[in-house]
Amino acid sequence: MLELKDVCFTIQKDGEDLNLIDQVSLQVPRGHFMAIVGPSGCGKTTLLKTIAGLNEESAGSLLWNGLDLAEEKDFDPAEIGYVPQFSIAYDQLTVDESIESATRLRVKIKNYAELDNRIDRTLEETGLAALADRPVQVLSGGQKRRLGLAMELVTGPHLLLCDEVTSGLDPRSERDIVRLLHQLSRRDGRTVISVTHSLAHLELYDSILVLHEGRVAYHGPPAGLTHYFSVEDTEEVYPQLAKQRSEKWAQSWLKHREAYYGKLNKRRKELIKRGELSVPVEVDNEPEPTKKSSQKTTDTTQLEDPAEAQTIVREPAKLVKTPGIISQFSTLLGRRWKIFFRDRGQVFLQLAILACFPILVALFSDRGNENIKRFSDRYEGTLQQIQEHTMVEKSYLSVGSAVSGIVMFQVVLLSLMGSNNSAREIAGERLIFEKEKFGGIRPIAYLGSKVAFLGSLILIQSLWMAIFVQQFWKFPDGAEAGFLDHTLFLVLINAAMTFVCLGISALMKTAEQSSLLSIYLVGFQLPLSGAVLALPESIESITRPFISAYWAWSGSIDSMNPSYRNAIDAVTETSFQSSSACHYLLIIHIAIGLIASYIGIKRHHWD
Ligand SMILES: Nc1ncnc2c1ncn2[C@@H]1O[C@H](COP(=O)(O)OP(=O)(O)O)[C@@H](O)[C@H]1O
Ligand SMILES: [Mg+2]
Repeated sequence: MLELKDVCFTIQKDGEDLNLIDQVSLQVPRGHFMAIVGPSGCGKTTLLKTIAGLNEESAGSLLWNGLDLAEEKDFDPAEIGYVPQFSIAYDQLTVDESIESATRLRVKIKNYAELDNRIDRTLEETGLAALADRPVQVLSGGQKRRLGLAMELVTGPHLLLCDEVTSGLDPRSERDIVRLLHQLSRRDGRTVISVTHSLAHLELYDSILVLHEGRVAYHGPPAGLTHYFSVEDTEEVYPQLAKQRSEKWAQSWLKHREAYYGKLNKRRKELIKRGELSVPVEVDNEPEPTKKSSQKTTDTTQLEDPAEAQTIVREPAKLVKTPGIISQFSTLLGRRWKIFFRDRGQVFLQLAILACFPILVALFSDRGNENIKRFSDRYEGTLQQIQEHTMVEKSYLSVGSAVSGIVMFQVVLLSLMGSNNSAREIAGERLIFEKEKFGGIRPIAYLGSKVAFLGSLILIQSLWMAIFVQQFWKFPDGAEAGFLDHTLFLVLINAAMTFVCLGISALMKTAEQSSLLSIYLVGFQLPLSGAVLALPESIESITRPFISAYWAWSGSIDSMNPSYRNAIDAVTETSFQSSSACHYLLIIHIAIGLIASYIGIKRHHWD
């Protein structure tokens, strides 16, 4: 039994309290199918979110099976299903794959047979069996809603909340979905609450809650609606509502509600007697809600708990267990790769960048090679000799700028790849993730899957960049170690940018904001790195710690043969840091990106 006692949800508007939900009290017993109707903006979604715990109530209390949800026991993620207004499936997956990943993420499965059974049962239950292999992208509106429902049914929730699952559908699809919800409420004592704007097919519900400006205007049997609102047809209810302020409707409801609750109880008993409604025996920890609450209100206003009148005795369905972190991680990672390979545009873009960026660097390395050749032919002497004789030589300066330029070019292109890897990664699927987090997916498993996925991209991109460019332009050292150091810096700069942008995409509200910020971040790397022009010292000391590109460039140059390092020193006024300091700085950037990602992922981001 779900019970709301004087529940309010208040926001601050222009410095004043505004009750979006105002003193809503009602009871919804097991196996009950309730509609929440009301004009647009009356607070239906807000009420549903308050029930789900996504909005914290500002006053009053919510009880589930007699226990206070705020103080005693919150919903188990498997106990509640919430179908939001938006689609919760990935377009690139098929119906079957979507249900499979929802099951793997939310239900601890013993073996493949159990997984298959669960998927098949869910497909059957929601009438999606024939569409199992179809990609989500091509589903009709009604089919998508069914899929949304199916993905919430995988845990066999005891309470199912649906927000506008029929809106925008043709009348036939709408009726089919309402029928489906009705059937779902007739099994295992599942309580189904469905928000709808539409006043069609109300006869299929057990009770209708009419909300008006956040207040209860009516909560009774569908057949009582027209009488209560003194109208001929249910379609006239909304215009009738608008004729009176919501306080008046709420007062009038308090006066009449006992009579309507009596009707609801009577009908419920009949249904159970006829065997149309099967209600499980109450669970052990369920106290007597009627006794507890009857201290405040009179018995007649209570909706009786069905357990008293039951004829069919069944055990309540046991709650499924949520899988562990590792299992969720591997499901999420497998799904991420699948979505990546199905998204042709993304694969093409990644391949194009992977191929073109190193070629771009190689093109520039041609001139650099010429200078390097001349340089090494003529200046084989000691460092001191070189310094003495060559400071003003043109080729000495050209080799400095060529080597510095090529390293910086690689660094900047890898920064760009990094931001392209992750700028939309979390922000682009935020609502789906919020939904999944609500369903029991752990933030750390989600972050882990992102790190593993992006980590692979980082390694492929950076190693390829290093190895490809090496074929055309030998890293100016001779010793193997210099090239390896340089490669490590390329991996680090790509990782630093990827994870900092992942942090941005976890903290921003929309994918657009996150992309824009990431682009600015990359855009500022080159000018602020000091590789092209030295910055004024006062600015340099402030900006330098944040410019990943500087640290990768500087570290890479520091690991070069000293004669090249001096050549570079001659063309730039910017000083270099030791390569170990550069390692640390870049690792700190990566750590900051990961911490920001975790904080962003944990944060509540529903709207
Ligand atoms: N978190 C919020 N902050 C401010 N206003 C909100 C918030 N949530 C909802 N609202 C406002 O409350 C009203 C009710 O919203 P909602 O519950 O979505 O309506 P419905 O689902 O009935 O169409 C709307 O005017 C909406 O703009
Ligand atoms: Mg709504």
